[in-house]
Amino acid sequence: MRIEIVQGDITARPVDAIVNAANSSLLGGGGVDGAIHQAAGPELLEACRELRATKLPDGLAPGAAVATPGFRLPAKWVIHTVGPNRHAGQTNPALLGSCFSESLRVAEGLGVRSLAFPAVGAGVYGWEARTVAQVGFEAVHAYMGRPVEAGVQRVELVEFVLFSEEVAEIFRTVLEETGGGVPA
Ligand code: APR
Repeated sequence: MRIEIVQGDITARPVDAIVNAANSSLLGGGGVDGAIHQAAGPELLEACRELRATKLPDGLAPGAAVATPGFRLPAKWVIHTVGPNRHAGQTNPALLGSCFSESLRVAEGLGVRSLAFPAVGAGVYGWEARTVAQVGFEAVHAYMGRPVEAGVQRVELVEFVLFSEEVAEIFRTVLEETGGGVPA
């Protein structure tokens, strides 16, 4: 498995699935959520409304993840996850880590080979980019270290797609500090 740091717009990434930093309502918002809904088209909101009307009547809990098709995006899937909102007192980094590990679990269940994460939580929800990088890499390394189950298609490429060069640089630095993308 490889980890790559990309500076750019996650909606343009040619990967099997992109992760959306959503909110619990799943009904769209600003930031990367807004960009993904804009690029995916109105069918994405319809698919999210359908989830709210069926599987997720109370919305998506912080740290959980759920997939929808990607519709007009290059990516086949969007995996929506909800970061803990520091401004609402949700300051447990394990909940942020769950966003990454649950998204990987959902991706693997879909047979996704390439997955792109934004810096979940590092915008409106108030997490330091450095913390998000540390927590995100820890979750990916834990996934890489799990024994491979026979017949299970593992995620092979994880991109962290950062909108600004400043945040991309922080992620590159933290990745180097944590031994890079190669399993020990
Ligand atoms: N591609 C990649 N990254 C992006 C993009 C994009 N097109 N647009 C924004 N980002 C970055 C932001 O710069 C930030 O570093 O995504 C990171 C996460 O920021 P937010 O989108 O604000 O997500 P988050 O902090 O998890 O807050 C979620 O904000 O947009 C609302 O509906 C969303 O209520 C939810 C909350």
